[in-house]
Amino acid sequence: MSNNDLAIVILAAGKGTRLKSSLAKVLHRAGGRTLVEQLMRACEPLKAREKVVVVGHQAERVAAVVQPLTALTVLQQPQNGTGHAMQVAKRALGRAKIAVVLPGDAPLVRTETLKALIAAHHHGNAAATILSAVLADPSGYGRVVRKSETTVAAIVEESQLTADQRDINEVNSAIYCFTLEKLWPALAQVKPNNKHRELYLTDAIAALSAKGETVLAQVAPDSREVLGCNTRADLAEVDRVFREWKRNALMDAGVTIQLPETVLIDPDVVAGEDTVIEPGVQLLGKTKIGARCTIRTGSVLSDAILGDEVTVEPHCVVEHSRLDDRVVIGPFARLRPDNHLKAGARIGNFVELKKSTIGEGTKAMHLSYLGDAKIGTKSNIGAGTITCNYDGFRKHPTSIGNKVFIGSDATLVAPVRVGDGAYIAAGSTITETVPADGLGIARGRQVNKPGWAAKKRRELAATEKPKKTTKKSKRPKATKRRK
Ligand code: UD1
Ligand code: MG
Repeated sequence: MSNNDLAIVILAAGKGTRLKSSLAKVLHRAGGRTLVEQLMRACEPLKAREKVVVVGHQAERVAAVVQPLTALTVLQQPQNGTGHAMQVAKRALGRAKIAVVLPGDAPLVRTETLKALIAAHHHGNAAATILSAVLADPSGYGRVVRKSETTVAAIVEESQLTADQRDINEVNSAIYCFTLEKLWPALAQVKPNNKHRELYLTDAIAALSAKGETVLAQVAPDSREVLGCNTRADLAEVDRVFREWKRNALMDAGVTIQLPETVLIDPDVVAGEDTVIEPGVQLLGKTKIGARCTIRTGSVLSDAILGDEVTVEPHCVVEHSRLDDRVVIGPFARLRPDNHLKAGARIGNFVELKKSTIGEGTKAMHLSYLGDAKIGTKSNIGAGTITCNYDGFRKHPTSIGNKVFIGSDATLVAPVRVGDGAYIAAGSTITETVPADGLGIARGRQVNKPGWAAKKRRELAATEKPKKTTKKSKRPKATKRRK
């Protein structure tokens, strides 16, 4: 059967009461993406003719996330259960003959597993095929009640388990493949016979089985794929699994990750061979790291682009900046957005950069703020140099040429320009252009007054009252040490 017959239905209308959140459940994040986006990405390669997301709670916000991913949304209002959600989706399924139905809160399922589910469904000529898993702790999940080794009689929700069903540890993932012409009449027979007065899609399984239709259950290759996010603890567990998979993928690609469980990496991050990531690092957003780089402990990089052999020393923060080959930053450097550090540049401790270009081989090693600055090659920016880029109304640029030497504690009041090869005297406040190869010096001239301090001390001693003699110290006299 071609993909033309396939529809995807994601049930995402529920509130997620157990999360105790003002945000709809499917908009919570795990593995660096919203739950619903993770699911849509897993389904994308199936190339279904229809992709339908059932929305209800915070419908507009959920729709705003899924519509750019080319899904249709249908509104379920009120939310009368997963079976009702499926009925609401019916009119959007067009001419699809089979549907893969997924709950919006079980985002770990993999494309390969879904493909295998569809294949098993076709192969078994089934009316429904359930993705199941065997869990050590099945609590919270509906259980799969088998009819035979291969077929299923019913799914029983936890609240409705009989005493002898409590031992069943094969759970319903709520991911199914349905033959739609068989599902609709079975679903029409389902009654809201539960304490929430909801129509359960799970009850359609028993209805199908009772009619003599084939209902199969396919066990997921990795039981973690079925984990649902009903509580914050579930979310944390699912996030942990996504992060582990991502780290493993990078390690498989030749990246060393030390104490991997302490490292958090977003899904779109890439890193080259022989790059070393130390404990406690976060690599976020669209960060791209070249080969043979070292990202040392405690650093957080988001949307950073690093060339090869870059070193990020401990505890640096880098946002949306480019670091070319062999750049070294930190420890304790802060790169706010839009910097470009060219090959071999060095940025040291307690240096803050914003919207600045640092030329090849240029160094700013200590305690500086460089904002809206363009600095040429092989310049040296002394300790404590500040670009005063903001006048209270607007930002202004600072331009520093090649092979410039800026003495310590200089303030460069922007807009200002320092020509190639120029020197700035330490402690200067520079407000005007410094010509190439010139010296800019802008500070009070030093005056030495010989003997001034000694004279001062004599004067002070003369005016001071003589000290009252205090009680003799009780400390015993030091005894002579024997030789
Ligand atoms: C459901 C299954 C359970 C299974 C578990 C796996 C039912 C009755 N139970 O339980 O057998 O083990 O998933 O995770 O299906 N939703 C709607 N409209 C509604 C109600 C729910 O769209 O009216 C959506 C929710 O947004 C959610 C999904 O359906 O994404 C599943 O609902 P949830 O309340 O999480 O069901 P579980 O109790 O987890
Ligand atoms: Mg759930």
